[in-house]
Amino acid sequence: MEGPLPTESRIWPRRYEEVYERSMRDPEGFWAEQAKRLDWFKTWDRVLEWDPPYARWFVGGRINASHNALDRHVATWRKNKAAIIWEGEPGDEKVITYYRLYREVNRFASVLKDLGVRKGDRVAIYLPMIPELPVAMLACARIGAVHTVVFSGFSSTALADRINDSRAKVLVTADGGYRRGKVVPLKRIADEAVDRAPSIETVVVVRRTGSEVSMQEGRDYWWHDLMEGARDYVEPEPVESTHPLFILYTSGTTGKPKGIVHGTGGYLVGVESTMRWVFDVRDEDIFWTAADVGWITGHSYIVYGPLVTGATTVMYEGAPDYPSPDRWWSIVERQGVTVLYTSPTAIRMFMRYGEEWPKRHDLSSLRLLGTVGEPINPEAWRWYYRVIGGERCPIVDTWWQTETGANMIAPCPGISLVPLKPGSATLPLPGVEADVVDEGGNPVPPGVRGYLVIKRPWPSMLLGVYRDPVRYREVYWSKFPGWYYTGDYAMRDEDGYFWLLGRADEVLKVSGHRIGTMELESALVSHEAVAEAAVVGKPHPVKGETPVAFVVLREGFSPGPELRDSIREFIRGEISPLYVPSEVHFVQRLPKTRSGKIMRRVLRAVVSGEEVGDLTTLEDEASVEEVKKAYEEFKALYEGGE
Ligand code: PRX
Repeated sequence: MEGPLPTESRIWPRRYEEVYERSMRDPEGFWAEQAKRLDWFKTWDRVLEWDPPYARWFVGGRINASHNALDRHVATWRKNKAAIIWEGEPGDEKVITYYRLYREVNRFASVLKDLGVRKGDRVAIYLPMIPELPVAMLACARIGAVHTVVFSGFSSTALADRINDSRAKVLVTADGGYRRGKVVPLKRIADEAVDRAPSIETVVVVRRTGSEVSMQEGRDYWWHDLMEGARDYVEPEPVESTHPLFILYTSGTTGKPKGIVHGTGGYLVGVESTMRWVFDVRDEDIFWTAADVGWITGHSYIVYGPLVTGATTVMYEGAPDYPSPDRWWSIVERQGVTVLYTSPTAIRMFMRYGEEWPKRHDLSSLRLLGTVGEPINPEAWRWYYRVIGGERCPIVDTWWQTETGANMIAPCPGISLVPLKPGSATLPLPGVEADVVDEGGNPVPPGVRGYLVIKRPWPSMLLGVYRDPVRYREVYWSKFPGWYYTGDYAMRDEDGYFWLLGRADEVLKVSGHRIGTMELESALVSHEAVAEAAVVGKPHPVKGETPVAFVVLREGFSPGPELRDSIREFIRGEISPLYVPSEVHFVQRLPKTRSGKIMRRVLRAVVSGEEVGDLTTLEDEASVEEVKKAYEEFKALYEGGE
């Protein structure tokens, strides 16, 4: 690294260690202190009830997320402050003040109430990145309803599955959304989903694109029509701290996505604290998390985190490189963005376009940069630091998950900035006891890869997996009883810094988005031509990794480019264009162990053109000889085949 990295501290250099140490010595006292920064209708009786694997935070406390994000700011000078600066893809803009947002949320809350939505009911939200999306979320929170936002790039099947699992009774969608200048027909996709989702009683449709849509009498209503008759004020429901705020579906190692449930009090404490520690949020910030609200990053750092801390949050609707590769840099310049938080995939994509695009804009308003979602390669880190941050802005590489609700391992310039190392998320945040252990649960020495675990509960921890307590226990709490298993590989260095090394389970990270190989495989085998399928990740220079599929065809189907296209199209329709396999290989058979388990390592070696290599990995279940034999046989077959 040329030139020193920023290590300057706002307070004093050892402050992080002190705060961390205090949080470990007296976690309940520490978290209670953080929780006091929120508005509670009733203070908790107990900070934590830990009945492994269930943690209940701020038990007995009553709180409301919409009240914390809106009412308490509207009562101050922030009433006239910009809450949301929104840019549509075609170039339209809206600046929504806290007061304006408060009104819209109240009005939509009254609409939901009139539609019969009650505390605890689920509302599915399938919207593009438009202001109605946070309005709908906060309106649910206001009345104690549970929102489940489904990313607008998901297909009708994926939407139907999520609605059916959550049994939502209202769906909020739009006539369409803009993506790369084209209209995505969201209402049509939603209609297909609702045909298969009997729990939906009402569909509320936002007019965004003005496209022609069909409206079903008695079921479908325009947002603007309903809002006309709405009331201006709805009392925020004082829910229990542990009342579910939202369900967000994410992929795991089975064929079915799981509904991660987050509570209210603990979750808000997690996002509020990390906004201060990691992003060092200030009133004058223009805070831009360049992600989609459909993922946890958007829930926590576009909507709840910024609004609860009274910040100004930026929302951009469209593609990052539309109409040209400097769209983001133009937003930074025009809106005066001070904090930019995004994924390594986006950074690598911009690196490819070249420095001339950011150089056309004045990026001097930026003071802090962040990354999330996948490991960042040091080269991309340095580019981000130099070209975007002008060698002036620290980079916070934040490790966390849908399940953790908020940042867990990350630098915290809001306390004191530890020296940065490109590619490392540095150290755990206060209150987070993270460790790297071997199969037996023993901490591994520096430089050795192991499993990342969290050894005590934290406030924004998931409440559970929706309607699946068995899966909750098995996935997160059975590998190392009493500790939370992250599913990630990690390593610590001599300074104790954490280096994240990717997933240890059958989950891929494609452009930072999570997809289980089993989920893709079960979709693949529902294609009429596919008898068996196996999916592995292949390293990709921009996306981190891409799915590669190996398929065995049914009797009567023959391999060829048309079938390959039809299989790729099928994944697009069944799941999402995000996860379309970059390669589909037709094979006679898949390499398997004697007990019939697919040897993914063999497939991974084949796609990356490597030898099977290190056979002493943690997850070995087949003998070395068996793997080698399968590898040689498969390679011979594969290379000779289509
Ligand atoms: O593998 C880790 C990776 O993303 C996973 C969580 O994915 P998801 O639930 O979709 O949430 C992404 C946004 C929080 C983790 O298990 N991951 C996340 N952040 C990082 C990361 N890997 C390396 N470095 C990170 N900063």
